[in-house]
Amino acid sequence: MGAIHYYEKERVFKLDTPHTSYLIGIVDEEKFLGHIYYGAKITDYDVRALMRTGEAPFVPSQNNRDRSSFLDAFPMEYPGHGVGDYRESAISVSDKNGNTAGQPLYREHKIYAGKPGLPGLPATFGSEEECETLEIVLADEVLDLTVTLYYTAFYDVDVITRSVRVTNHAKEPVYLTKVFSTALDLDAEDYRMLTLHGSWARERQIEYRQIGYGKQSVGSCRGESSHQEHPFVALVSANAGQEQGRVYGFHFVYSGNFLAQVEKNQFDSLRVVLGIHPQDFKWELKQGETFTAPEVVLTYSDAGLGRMTRTLHDLYRKHLIRSPYKDRERPVLINNWEATYFDFDTEKLLAIAREAKKSGIEMLVMDDGWFGDKYRRVQDNSSLGDWVVDRKKLPNGLENLIQTADRNGIKFGIWIEPEAVNSKSELFEKHPDWALQVKGRPLQYGRGGTQMLLDVCNPEVQDFMFGIVDNLLGKHPQIAYIKWDANVELKNYGSTYLPQDKQSHIYIEYHRGLNKVLERIRAKYPDVLIQACGGGGGRASYGVLPYFDEFWVSDNTDALQRIYMQWGTSYFYPSNAMAQHISASPNHQTGRIIPIKFRCDVAMSGRLGMELQPSKMTKEEYQQTAQAIKDYKSVRDVIQLGNLYRLVSPYDDKGIASLMYTDDTENKAVFFAYKMEHFNNQVIPRVCLRGLDPSKNYRVRELNVKTGGQPCFLNGKTFSGTLLMNTGIEMPLGSDYASCVLELTAE
Ligand code: DGJ
Repeated sequence: MGAIHYYEKERVFKLDTPHTSYLIGIVDEEKFLGHIYYGAKITDYDVRALMRTGEAPFVPSQNNRDRSSFLDAFPMEYPGHGVGDYRESAISVSDKNGNTAGQPLYREHKIYAGKPGLPGLPATFGSEEECETLEIVLADEVLDLTVTLYYTAFYDVDVITRSVRVTNHAKEPVYLTKVFSTALDLDAEDYRMLTLHGSWARERQIEYRQIGYGKQSVGSCRGESSHQEHPFVALVSANAGQEQGRVYGFHFVYSGNFLAQVEKNQFDSLRVVLGIHPQDFKWELKQGETFTAPEVVLTYSDAGLGRMTRTLHDLYRKHLIRSPYKDRERPVLINNWEATYFDFDTEKLLAIAREAKKSGIEMLVMDDGWFGDKYRRVQDNSSLGDWVVDRKKLPNGLENLIQTADRNGIKFGIWIEPEAVNSKSELFEKHPDWALQVKGRPLQYGRGGTQMLLDVCNPEVQDFMFGIVDNLLGKHPQIAYIKWDANVELKNYGSTYLPQDKQSHIYIEYHRGLNKVLERIRAKYPDVLIQACGGGGGRASYGVLPYFDEFWVSDNTDALQRIYMQWGTSYFYPSNAMAQHISASPNHQTGRIIPIKFRCDVAMSGRLGMELQPSKMTKEEYQQTAQAIKDYKSVRDVIQLGNLYRLVSPYDDKGIASLMYTDDTENKAVFFAYKMEHFNNQVIPRVCLRGLDPSKNYRVRELNVKTGGQPCFLNGKTFSGTLLMNTGIEMPLGSDYASCVLELTAE
């Protein structure tokens, strides 16, 4: 099987995935690498027809341009700077004299089965049976620099990945000031730009914008991929929706600074660039040295955002996460954060575990506050770095807690924040130089007024961080889950470890150091489930998912707000990666009062968990959550591993939101619907389902029926797939905060 073909006469590369093709051409005389096509899968015949050998047919012909504007309009595969293309370049290099012009040109290529790893960087993976890679070496003879472009096409998912490696061959060093991982030139149709934005407790809201002339972007310069903007962008055609229309999706596999930008130029063509943010990026390359830019995932769908999403979910399961949990059902857990905050001890935790067990919960996760000796972690302003058990809270240590939980048939997980230190800690007293800091400037603090990041560029710090996990899991192999939190951005842009002339490498070296630690942890402890928490949802990124299995969607657990956040997050993360917990009412973040059934139904659409304190639950809450957990377990395989169809968007103001999952056989599905607002004479739309077999009949069973209530009118009925998908079904959503979860089984 080959996914990549080189047409020698036409000098064209064709990369194929199951439904897409991507074409690159070498312009004969100039040896520019031109972008020809990315879209629905085309045939060899189409390629030859497109090429009309001997010309440069991929210059859009409708534009009546002269030679001087040729480069400014030419669709380039990896554009340089200062030689006639005035759009955003993919690379900027300056030599020691400050010259910045450069355009790498085609030199050679090779095609091989499989996918190379990216040393020091997170990346997708694929075996020789699963994908094929094209390596194109470009060279700038004047700078004596090579730029190698890597393209991998997968056989089983509609994804092409791209990454870039730059090598300096000249005697004198050069300085890279920009190395984007991808550039894609497209003819401007009526695309809108879809991005995700937010803030703490309001993560991943959807934003559409018209693409105007000039540049529009999202990015982060916080040292992390951030709560605010997300390393993802999609171009969505004017008529596109969830299941129809053309969509290009781009996702950066990196959790540090990024820029994703779309530029519309004078000839109405678009250039998309994605990669490490050029701000604060200056990298010295001595002779023989190489810089590798992280990977970007590209996908194209001519069946709307839904197919883009399902492709990205498949990519996550098959080629991104490495732990055995990729296709394993994940436990229902209780986390004590909202139940106790810092105020807990062994007895309180065990009481939570005992009660939780009765309602079917499978794991207890002990959150922040279990550590510190000289400085006890009783609030958020101390002790990070002092990873010893607080004997006042847990007098018999972790062992006793874990074993008792185990005896009660409940697994154990633990919270840590290995990258952070408080100024009030024994670690900072001993190693003040281990915190990131700018020489001559006062320290900037985050959470608690004392929190900083450790200098993860420093190998001693990396060993320390690995040691935190190694000590815990070495001594307590029963620990089945780690919640790895990260509550502060990179505030102090200075390292005592890196030499003065390499301070501009901090943002990159921080993430390389972090990846080294995570690689070591994964190599030694492949089975432990690890959650990426970033002070809520600040660390949801493909850049961490090769090491982490899931992430905390948001610190905001208000069920109504969660519907919006989960909707946005679902565009590229599957439900088993999304930690969704049932929480208290009034909600701790918003104060909103929401019935327990609605809270359960919202949390059930992802990886279900609880934040409630069992001792404070009402009888109704207790019964309803137990019912929800029981029913969830009966369909967990479909929810966690199935195919997602988003049916009615909460952003469309239709008064409801709805989504569903189907299994691969189309025999089983789980449907969710939520009432978003409530008023008299409200018109509640019917909902058409998706992803079913029109020729099959499906029997409906209502899940998580309201405690003390009757199943809804749909329960027990049988409908054909045709009716469900074309006419749709009426919604049993009459009252305020009504919601329903239905199981559909083919008869
Ligand atoms: C932020 C997280 O998002 C919370 O769930 C909790 O773990 C706190 N940190 C603990 O400090």
